[in-house]
Amino acid sequence: MTLIRLSGVSKTFPPATKNDRPVVAVDDVDLDIAAGEVVGIVGYSGAGKSTVLRLLNALETPSSGSVEIDGRDITSLRERDLRTLRGDIGMIFQQFNLFESRTVEKNVAYPLEIAGRPKAEIASRVKELLSFVGLSDKAKNHPEQLSGGQKQRVGIARALATSPRILLADEATSALDPDTTQEVLALLGRVNQELGVTIVVITHEMDVIRTLADRVVVMEAGRIIEQGTVFDVLSAPRHAATRRFVSSIIEDVPQGDQLAALQTRHPGRIVTFTIRDGDVTQADVFATLSRHGVRFELIHGGINDIRGRVFGHLTLALTGEPDAVSQAIIEAAAHAPLVEETLVEKKEETLVEKKEDHRG
Ligand SMILES: Nc1ncnc2c1ncn2[C@@H]1O[C@H](COP(=O)(O)OP(=O)(O)O)[C@@H](O)[C@H]1O
Ligand SMILES: [Mg+2]
Repeated sequence: MTLIRLSGVSKTFPPATKNDRPVVAVDDVDLDIAAGEVVGIVGYSGAGKSTVLRLLNALETPSSGSVEIDGRDITSLRERDLRTLRGDIGMIFQQFNLFESRTVEKNVAYPLEIAGRPKAEIASRVKELLSFVGLSDKAKNHPEQLSGGQKQRVGIARALATSPRILLADEATSALDPDTTQEVLALLGRVNQELGVTIVVITHEMDVIRTLADRVVVMEAGRIIEQGTVFDVLSAPRHAATRRFVSSIIEDVPQGDQLAALQTRHPGRIVTFTIRDGDVTQADVFATLSRHGVRFELIHGGINDIRGRVFGHLTLALTGEPDAVSQAIIEAAAHAPLVEETLVEKKEETLVEKKEDHRG
């Protein structure tokens, strides 16, 4: 079931001064998000990610196009309906945005107080939420006494207070160290799995997408340039910007200087196999090499777990009887169509040149 639908959405901000041009922050975006999904939006700074999130909870109104939540256009809601909508959409931020003067429990209680819920109900709900995020023992503390990860867990508890169906996360882990990031991502995973909350995370970190998201949307200059399941996009990125993001977490096929360095350090032919769960397994490749008596050493790359599926580039140095090596490569290539062998030819060329040098 489609829970969120953006159709032809653009957002243009007026120029800051008379001499500036208007800023097209979001440019003709179509996006459907199903109930229960975790969708990651990735892009560089200024790509329009935050504006998309703000359009989703009606903090911004589109210049054109429509934003529907649960089949309802939210672009022209009245004040009362707007409040109901916001109760259905929680949000967390990079800088946590906690009230420093309030205790942890009072921070979490805040949205319920605004909604005018009875005191007893608020107290029990806050207790439940703090237990869910693992901060029951910090109820009476103030935010300044907490670590960054703990502050974000308070942010999550507060965002969930009104039992929203949707949680929006704007760079929610960007201010955290890697361990704390994993801890917060695991909590967000539970929010999705255990509470069934639909989550939209925006980030410039591909690792957040790999860990948490089912689907990824790549934005550049206000537009969606690529989208798909996390496995498909990470294992076969099409757009140059997407490839740059992916290469930050998945070792690429070595080229240029990197390849040259590998060639000076390792004897034999250097070949990269692209291992893709479902198509090509490591076992297929290794068995073929072994059958031909080829020795192989992993010299670059590795295997990645993407949402439980395997993907990676394995760069191997192959040594053995030259004909056996050639035959093994041909065979491996036959049942592993994604073998990269471009590197080898160059090396042979250099060898030929050298021979000619000797003659001359
Ligand atoms: N309220 C605003 N007024 C004017 N320009 C804005 C406003 N909000 C965002 N922008 C501009 O819109 C573009 C997209 O911004 P934003 O959505 O924050 O991108 P991201 O979150 O991907 O970094 C940027 O050029 C930004 O400067
Ligand atoms: Mg932003």
